[in-house]
Amino acid sequence: MNATITAIGGFVPTSILSNETISETVDTTVEWIEKRTGIKERRLATSKDQATSNLACAAIENLLENYDVDRKEIDCVLLATTTPDHLLTPTSSKVCEISGLTNAFGLDLNAACSGFLYALEMATTMIESGRYKKIIVVGADKMSSIVDYEDRNTCILFGDGAGAVLLEKTELGYGMMKSILRTDGSGTSALLVPAGGSKFPATMGTIVNRDHYIKQEGAFVFKKAVESMSSVSQDVLASNDLSVKDIDWVVPHQANLRIINAVSESLNIGIEKVKVNIERYGNTTSATIPLCLWDFAADFKQGQNILITTFGAGFSWGATCIKWGVMRKRLPAKSSKND
Ligand code: COA
Repeated sequence: MNATITAIGGFVPTSILSNETISETVDTTVEWIEKRTGIKERRLATSKDQATSNLACAAIENLLENYDVDRKEIDCVLLATTTPDHLLTPTSSKVCEISGLTNAFGLDLNAACSGFLYALEMATTMIESGRYKKIIVVGADKMSSIVDYEDRNTCILFGDGAGAVLLEKTELGYGMMKSILRTDGSGTSALLVPAGGSKFPATMGTIVNRDHYIKQEGAFVFKKAVESMSSVSQDVLASNDLSVKDIDWVVPHQANLRIINAVSESLNIGIEKVKVNIERYGNTTSATIPLCLWDFAADFKQGQNILITTFGAGFSWGATCIKWGVMRKRLPAKSSKND
């Protein structure tokens, strides 16, 4: 018995932050951003009722509207996010309430850009244990709540969004294969929000220092991302007895188009097999991978092998393979893609 993805949903806010607008506020150019990152625009949750829980619920609603699944049958919601609504209480509680998942328990999981993949692995083992039948894994981040729009090193990169998948069991031989997940705390200071947690609780000083915003050593993170995603992808292929020739699609974390290109080159997988939507959404952290699955779901055919790989703060990284299976029945379209 395997766990397999049977439904997908996604959501991005309608408000667009373009490179043109950024270049009017910090010392950069439209050309520099596009050439160095591949990003043309990102979506921002600008309305007051768009906290991370709302983004997650919009993605779940999109999934439930489009696939024939009863929300009362959902056993668990694993919410990967690095931008919870509050430090206390769990954002997943709000998600269960708003989405009417009255028979589910919810759990927040923070592993930065690797959160969705970690949550997917946890859900896989929960389904394969036989103790849970239907789990929603949702990656949602409102990065605009922790981005410093005066810092040209980071404000060009991030956007807001959410993506969700439903995981269930199958006995047809499709679904989730082996994963490799890694964590290494040596990267903590290279990518973090310094204050607001238990180490440096909020003070007037932390606010004045802008320590509640993301700080990043971009070039160092870039190098580690390319090395880690390349090597963990090779390892996960070997552990699943696959070679690069067996891979139909790669769904990489979307942090920088140059990272994606370098990983594809190092794996010797043609870029035409690599799914990319960073130009429209930027880096949505926990949401990049499910948003990419959602965006390109129509391209994935039964029996095709998909390689997923990610890298994020911590450092945290990993990879998995999926043999794409049978999706649940589609419902008559109520809503088209909400972007
Ligand atoms: N516009 C114009 N110039 C910029 C700039 C901007 N927005 N940001 C940085 N620069 C400048 C730097 O100040 C530096 O100038 P200098 O040479 O005079 O010192 C120069 O560009 C090169 O800086 P560097 O940081 O080496 O650029 P880069 O090519 O590495 O690109 C990032 C910067 C942030 C785009 C890139 O490093 C990156 O994407 N890093 C990884 C991001 C990531 O994956 N983060 C999340 C992990 S999930």
